This record gives sequence, C-alpha cells and structure tokens, in this order.
Amino acid sequence: MKPNPLESLDHVVRDALGQLAAIDDLADLNGAEASLIGRRSAFTSLQKSLGALAPEDRARAGAALQEARRRVEDAFEERRRVLDSGAWERRMREDRLDLGDVIAERVVWSPRAGHPGLVAITQRELEDVFVAMGFSVAEGPEVESDWYNFEALNIPPAHPARGMWDTFYVEMGEPETVVLRTHTSPTQIHLMEEALASGTLPIHSVMPGRCYRRDTPDARHLAAFHQVEGLVVDRGIAFADLAGVIETFTRAYFGDDIEARLRPAYFPFTEPSAEFEITCTICRGAGCRTCSQTGWIELGGCGMLDPAVFEAVGLDPEVWSGFAFGFGIDRCAQMRHQIADMRALTENDVRFLEQFS
Ligand code: PHE
Repeated sequence: MKPNPLESLDHVVRDALGQLAAIDDLADLNGAEASLIGRRSAFTSLQKSLGALAPEDRARAGAALQEARRRVEDAFEERRRVLDSGAWERRMREDRLDLGDVIAERVVWSPRAGHPGLVAITQRELEDVFVAMGFSVAEGPEVESDWYNFEALNIPPAHPARGMWDTFYVEMGEPETVVLRTHTSPTQIHLMEEALASGTLPIHSVMPGRCYRRDTPDARHLAAFHQVEGLVVDRGIAFADLAGVIETFTRAYFGDDIEARLRPAYFPFTEPSAEFEITCTICRGAGCRTCSQTGWIELGGCGMLDPAVFEAVGLDPEVWSGFAFGFGIDRCAQMRHQIADMRALTENDVRFLEQFS
C-alpha cells in the first residue's frame, strides 16, 4: 500500500489555525497569507503530491484536501474581518475630535454658581445687627388692605398725609381697598394684633420686606424697594431708647466715621417723629448729586408710637409704650457700598452684581 500523503492533513490544519489565532495585526495577517493558504502553503505541496495516488484514490483525497483548505481559508477571512474591525475602531478612536471639550472651553461658558444679590445680602446683614441687639425677625404681606397700610396707622381716608405715599392700588373701594404696601409699617399692626391675641407681649422685632411706591426711579428711589421696620412695644419705653438703638445700629453697620442725626419730622403713627439721616458716604458730607448737595442721606423715619395706633389694635396706651422705625434696605446698601445711582441695583449688569459675591 502506498503511503498516504494526506496523513499529515489534520496536523497542517491545526497548525494553520493555531498560527492564525496568534496573529493580531492586519499587516501580519496579510504577510502570512502565502504561507498559510497560498502558493507556499502546505496545501499547495500536498496538492502536488496527489499526482502519485492511484486515480481511484485521487478524487477522494482531492476532496478532503479542498475541504481542509477551505476551513483554513474561512478562518483566515474571519480573522481578517475581526482584525479589520478592530483597526477601524482604533482609528475612529484615535482620529476622534472631541468637539465637546472645544465647545465647553471656548464657545459656551461653563455653568457658574450664582450668589444672592446685594439687597438680599444687605437684608441679612441688617437682620444680623438687630438680632445681636436682641430683636427677633418677622415678616408681613406685601399686599395689604387700606386698613393695615393706612387707617390702623392713624391715616384716615382723605388724610393729607396719604400724599406722603404714592400708592399702587390693587382694588378700589368695595368690598375693601387693597394696595401694594407703601412701607413695612403695616407689619407693626399685624405683630401687635398677634402678640395681643397670643399673649406674647412685649415685642422687640424687626420686619424686613419689599415695598412699592408710584415713584419715578432716580439716583435714590426705586418703585419697588425694601425697608426694614423696627418695633418695640414694652412698658416704660422712652425716646432715649429709640435714639440709642439708632445710634448703636449706625455704628455697627456703617462704622464709627459715619454720623447719624435725627431731625424732627411728622408721621401720623408716631409722636414725636424724626427723620433718621446719615452722612452721605459718596461725598463724605461735601455735597453731591446722590445727596442733592445736602451732604446727608435720609435712611428712614422713626418715632414714639402714637396712642392712636395702640387704640386701633386694642392695646391700652396707659400701660404700653414703644417706638418704631423704618428705613430703606436699598439705601443702606447704596450708602455702605457707595453706589452713586440706586438704579444699578435693578439693571442686572453682571459686572456690577459680581462685585458683591
Ligand atoms: N413707614 C415710614 C415711611 O416709610 C417710616 C417710619 C416707620 C416712620 C416707622 C416712623 C416709624 O416713610
């Protein structure tokens, strides 16, 4: 019996498949094509040796050889496909231009954390000063009935003092007149009513909040602005207590080089009443556009509670005494930070706002 040239066929196939599996680069694969399945491969030399077989064996052996070569060719193509897609993915990765980074860095601003505005910051600082002096902090509604905003404060309808506050009316007359509060003073009334109802007198409170007036905005005025109201209701309170609180507050908030003065004034709900002014911080008293050349800036009003207000809420003016004050938070911010024109507070120019973070 002639030796079978295909004896080694299984071994050739296993060897070729082993080599293929070890190739992990497309160029190496192409380089190995000739020796694995091409001209220089074992299959080609085996093909040649088939000539030595008897004709009846040759067809069977040829078919077996073809079948073995096709297995290796299929594995070769599969390997090429795998390496090809790997190379593609690698190239995609390497050539990738990450526009996300470019955009984040140069085109859009990355998000920045904001911060409270100057008025909110100032309100907190003012609250801190008064809390340190023993006051508690309370709040009241911005929309008030005529009774809270005016009448309970001893300002009857048609009283000429109503001209002191240019009012935004929400509702006129029936069933009642409703206004945007023109000052924080109506919160005094709420507080006294609550304290009376719950038996929590005396009162030592400050009440910050937004107010509205039909004012044309200018260097010192905004139509929507902020006040902090102060209210003390206790026994045996004197004007000296009020003056002491104003003095202590001015020093604590503006510093020792800013002077405060009280000038006689008129408010329907206090008697006596005073206007509370400080040295203009823009010109240090010399006179400028912001203070209308006076050297002084009015921060607000104050005075001893009028007995008529105690009577309006049902407190006995023979037992209770007290004082109130109310001044502009925006004005305080303006004077503290020497802002020549208050309208900067509402223009939302970030170059302005960022200075107070
Ligand atoms: N509410 C007054 C105003 O806005 C200020 C004030 C408050 C006066 C408290 C006296 C007492 O003009």
